[in-house]
Amino acid sequence: MVRKTLIAGNWKMNGLLEDGVALAKGVALEVKKAARKDCEFLICPPFTLLMSAKKAIKGSKTMLGAQDCHFDAKGAHTGDVSPQMLKDIGCQYVILGHSERRTDHGETNELIAKKAKSAIEAGLKVIICIGETEKERDEGKTINVCTTQIMGSVPENSTAQNTVIAYEPVWAIGTGKTPTANEVEEVHAAIRKVVSKKLGRANANKMRILYGGSMKPSNAKELLALPDVDGGLIGGASLKVADFIAISEACRQ
Ligand code: PGA
Repeated sequence: MVRKTLIAGNWKMNGLLEDGVALAKGVALEVKKAARKDCEFLICPPFTLLMSAKKAIKGSKTMLGAQDCHFDAKGAHTGDVSPQMLKDIGCQYVILGHSERRTDHGETNELIAKKAKSAIEAGLKVIICIGETEKERDEGKTINVCTTQIMGSVPENSTAQNTVIAYEPVWAIGTGKTPTANEVEEVHAAIRKVVSKKLGRANANKMRILYGGSMKPSNAKELLALPDVDGGLIGGASLKVADFIAISEACRQ
């Protein structure tokens, strides 16, 4: 059973045209040079940069993704973008249910599942984010919280081919703090068990589970070596070409 490592950059609300294009070009160039067969690369810029990033990564194996979408294909939803629109301009992936969207926009597991179902139907792959808050961890609820989030936000049409789970402890995002390697492996293994319960063992064995939350070159090697960690969803460190690539080098086989 081989799960190809996925190194995904979540740019969040960062990047104006000039620096966004430079970042995408820089990543694409390094991905081309690295010529990895054991690793996939994805960048998820904000909506405004998707088209120009697409041009900037042309000819490299870097893939393009968005950070959110609506569940409808089109219609009266001011300010929203549909999965079909993302697919139309060349996105392969969409991140859904990031903790910042759960917090800033009150997104529920139910809504995330609805978006994920539609995105998959539109031909996109989804990265569904889950993870506990610091309080929940302190109260020993980490596995319970992740279980509820998976059961509620992963749709019925998810398979190992169209879905990636990103485990991102909320308290580790952008803080420089991370769980220990043992703690990360414990949660990832538990997530795989829940996926098995929901989607069957074959899907669970093949589904990629990324770690996210202050992943950087200095801790990537330890985290990416864990048996149930199949890549990273990288925020801050994805905004620097050298750091993003250094993280992927940490899992060179
Ligand atoms: P971070 O963000 O790497 O800056 O902690 C990760 C994420 O939120 O996806």
